[in-house]
Amino acid sequence: MNSSQALRLTLWLCSAHADQPTLTRKQTPAPAFKARRSGQTEIAIMRVAIPGGTGQVGTLLARAFHRDGHEVVVLSRSRKQAPWRVVQWDPANVGSWASELDGMDVVINLAGRSVNCRYTPSNRREILQSRTMSVEAVGRAIAQARRPPAVWLQASTATIYAHTYDVPNDDISGIVGGAEPGAPDTWRFSIEVATAWEKALDDAPVGATRRVKLRSAMIMSPDPGGIFDTLLALCRRGLGGSAGDGRQYVSWIHEADFIRAIYLLIEREIHGAINLAAPNPLPNREFMATLRRAWGTSIGLPATKWMLEVGAVLLKTETELILKSRRVIPGRLLREGFSFEYPHWPQAARELCAHFKTTGSQGKLPALFWGGPG
Ligand SMILES: NC(=O)c1ccc[n+]([C@@H]2O[C@H](COP(=O)([O-])OP(=O)(O)OC[C@H]3O[C@@H](n4cnc5c(N)ncnc54)[C@H](OP(=O)(O)O)[C@@H]3O)[C@@H](O)[C@H]2O)c1
Repeated sequence: MNSSQALRLTLWLCSAHADQPTLTRKQTPAPAFKARRSGQTEIAIMRVAIPGGTGQVGTLLARAFHRDGHEVVVLSRSRKQAPWRVVQWDPANVGSWASELDGMDVVINLAGRSVNCRYTPSNRREILQSRTMSVEAVGRAIAQARRPPAVWLQASTATIYAHTYDVPNDDISGIVGGAEPGAPDTWRFSIEVATAWEKALDDAPVGATRRVKLRSAMIMSPDPGGIFDTLLALCRRGLGGSAGDGRQYVSWIHEADFIRAIYLLIEREIHGAINLAAPNPLPNREFMATLRRAWGTSIGLPATKWMLEVGAVLLKTETELILKSRRVIPGRLLREGFSFEYPHWPQAARELCAHFKTTGSQGKLPALFWGGPG
């Protein structure tokens, strides 16, 4: 990190937990340093690049950083309009877009083909390659930067852990999956993708840039097309009963905690794999019953495993997200003293339902199941 980045980050870290002030931008004092003033507090503005930041997670993060006054640039394969800057990139080739990462404070790479599809050989290839290739491209761009970012947060997934009911997987002693007897081939594929994704990050030649692997559980936000929208669509149609035998654990994190955890990971000298999940995962049966109560419906037809498998084929997707037991807990975040605003699902579900009633997609039927790395 050079001295101007260090200064900006130090100032930002000192002020990161100040109350959110109304933004009044000062004139730029120097090209590499912008600041806003709140009373007597000078708050440094971070520069954040988000490759693949046009999807659900990227939009949450870009919206939050933008709201908080930071500079956001999203890299997308196509031209898009957004309240923040969107620059076209080609994750297969390090071209002119690479200069966008030069001088950034933070890079958060979320790029990867959606996993909401059947795992055919060609889709598998694309799911894997789009992830490893984008990590390699971001790594090369950082390696050639004159002022490389201080930190690179790389999407990974809580799906990397074994299918377990009894022992929760934390990020210190959790068991990476793949060797469970009888695990479907699709589950093993997701773990292979996650492992290769993380290895690509480890192999990137980025010197002093700090690397963090975001082993995220399902991020619950009321936005249209997200996983919460999908699950709620089932409840609203009376189909929100348990899936399979309902014993499989659901790991989740409320969007507000996800964003706060991302800020913490930028702030602290944390390296390596971090679980982004609420501390209280719960079995699918309870998870869905709680969601039904929060929405105010008592009817929830259950779906057996074979019904889900048939539905997944018809909808050209996979059942892994619903049937694999993800019992994942945030060991390292808790050790860091992170305090969850939404540690329990009932409270999170009530807030999300209330929010959805005012802003959600209301009526659109999104995809019903999703596969692994998302
Ligand atoms: N959503 C969750 O709860 C969750 C949980 C754990 C992990 N994750 C992981 O976190 C990442 C972001 O999640 P998300 O839900 O925001 O995903 P998403 O909505 O599918 O967005 C990912 C972005 O990747 C880009 N992309 C798509 N196909 C690509 C390809 N072939 N090559 C390069 N880029 C491609 C797209 O941007 P452009 O089309 O604009 O280029 C897309 O907006 C994903 O990798 C996902 O697996 C998500």
